[in-house]
Amino acid sequence: MAGTFITFEGIDGSGKSTHLRLLADFLRSGGLDVVLTREPGGTPVGNRLRAALLDASEEVDPLTELLVFAADRAQHVRRVLRPAIEEGRVIISDRYADATVAYQGAGRGFSAELISEIIALATEGLRPELTLLFNLSVAESNTRTRRRTNGQQAGDRLDAETAEFHTRVRDAYLRLAETEPDRIKVIETNRSVEETQECVRKVIVPFLIGRGHIRNANC
Ligand code: TMP
Repeated sequence: MAGTFITFEGIDGSGKSTHLRLLADFLRSGGLDVVLTREPGGTPVGNRLRAALLDASEEVDPLTELLVFAADRAQHVRRVLRPAIEEGRVIISDRYADATVAYQGAGRGFSAELISEIIALATEGLRPELTLLFNLSVAESNTRTRRRTNGQQAGDRLDAETAEFHTRVRDAYLRLAETEPDRIKVIETNRSVEETQECVRKVIVPFLIGRGHIRNANC
């Protein structure tokens, strides 16, 4: 059976990582072997690149940032994603190339052409079959990130960007979802975690049934 590659995306504080864990527990409790991974940091070298990228005390040039996210992705694609897909597994990644379109493209202002060239180089054309985009307002995202950091200024270097930056990122994600409605499903997160998770399962379970990874809706 062919492997299946799913990604979760959204602005910081959108709750995607929480939903990824809840979904993985649910799928695993039904006996499905799920590979959970993330960008940046889905490999040992990627974890070191992640620490460098997110260190709030470090000034990172935008071009360096773009290239280091791409380097992290190249390692992830070649060492984790491709092998898992070849083994026929279900992979769920907390972020992937759409994040570069949104953060480095819309957020930092790199041209669409450069962004797509860099993505093509790093991914060798590997694209997710399904993407869940966790949507919330920038104001709510800010409240959640502050809560996460005990009311201190937002935690990592990208969290600490301006509301305008996060608005450009959010708008870019929503535009991507409009452009690719078959691949990208928007999950609204302005409700309880349980209700949002219910919605996540309503998208993922039928999709995995369709791909032959799950036999029935009880998972
Ligand atoms: P997260 O693991 O909390 O989502 O943090 C990763 C941060 O890195 C987040 O602010 C988004 C950012 N990012 C980019 O700017 N470009 C990328 O290509 C990726 C994968 C992440």
